Amino acid sequence: MSARLEAEHLYKVFGRRPDEAVDRLRGGADREELRADGTTAAVIDASFTVEPGEIFVVMGLSGSGKSTLLRMLNGLLEPTAGTVGFDGQDLTALSDRELREVRAKKISMVFQHFALFPHRSVLENAAYGLAVQGVPRAERERRATEALALCGLAGWEKSWPDELSGGMQQRVGLARALATDADLLLMDESFSALDPLIRRDMQDQLLELQRSLKKTIVFITHDLNEAMRLGDRIAVMRDGRIVQTGSAEDILLRPANDYVASFIQDVDRSRVLTAGAVMDREVRGDEADCACETATPDTPFHDLCALSARLPHPVAVLDAERELVGVVPRQRLVGFLGEETGTPQPCDSPRDKGGEKVTARA
Ligand SMILES: Nc1ncnc2c1ncn2[C@@H]1O[C@H](COP(=O)(O)OP(=O)(O)OP(=O)(O)O)[C@@H](O)[C@H]1O
Ligand SMILES: [Mg+2]
Repeated sequence: MSARLEAEHLYKVFGRRPDEAVDRLRGGADREELRADGTTAAVIDASFTVEPGEIFVVMGLSGSGKSTLLRMLNGLLEPTAGTVGFDGQDLTALSDRELREVRAKKISMVFQHFALFPHRSVLENAAYGLAVQGVPRAERERRATEALALCGLAGWEKSWPDELSGGMQQRVGLARALATDADLLLMDESFSALDPLIRRDMQDQLLELQRSLKKTIVFITHDLNEAMRLGDRIAVMRDGRIVQTGSAEDILLRPANDYVASFIQDVDRSRVLTAGAVMDREVRGDEADCACETATPDTPFHDLCALSARLPHPVAVLDAERELVGVVPRQRLVGFLGEETGTPQPCDSPRDKGGEKVTARA
């Protein structure tokens, strides 16, 4: 299947003589050099693809260029250079009218501070995108009701926005995006204003919805933990550039540079890693007992720990054909958890049966 979104060498420069600035950036100039001339290079040479049904997360600190990048993906901002392909169509070549049409029908955007209309009911707020499209009242109310139910807001249709908590209001925003047929969702820090528990709840809800709806989602956040929970793939931005694109595991285990490595220090590794990432692939037949409880490469780290605690020997990891693909000695689990920087040392994995030898780490 071809990509839903394809960004190729995207640049966005604000300020004077943007084309000239792009030439300088191509020649190796960085943001700081341009800033001296009063020009802002918001996005520099960004290339990536987003596959159908994928949650693609763009992560970076404030000012790194995330929102600018997102706004180029739906044509709200015109790139200074580069192209955006959407379902095989070059967005940058469309007329304003065609762009508006694409935005109204195929792409939904959910912002950080979702502004609900205070004098419209929750239902009318959720149906807003459909009203803009000219969908008749009965149908838009039916679809908005469904979308609200999906977001856990059944029964709140007639309420006013100010009767809802911040988290619930944010869910109305999500419902508004889901009520339309748009199957590309662009979410800009959509959960960032929520307190941690509600935020986690919203993340769960989004993952749950995604399992059945299979939209294509570009999700922006400055929180790497959120990125890792949600993202099938994550692009890390710094000063306008994408410095690494990969799965949560790629980023955690193989950070592209010191900058990414400094980010991952605060990540709870046990929430990201799976058996496939931590197992020792060089296995001998006698190291693991495949007859009793085993793991698969997808087994989450927490489950692996529980399994390891129950078994007197290393955990065997079997693939879908029940072939032995790796083993996880208990001390290897500890080694992966304790690592402070990105590159895990292979534990001096004991070849003696059982693997229970404990090596103190300095
Ligand atoms: N319309 C604009 N005119 C001039 N400069 C802009 C404009 N929009 C963004 N910028 C600049 O481009 C850079 C990237 O901004 P952007 O909003 O994309 O960052 P961000 O990663 O979304 O940050 P945040 O996390 O704070 O939302 C910043 O330096 C910002 O000041
Ligand atoms: Mg932003």
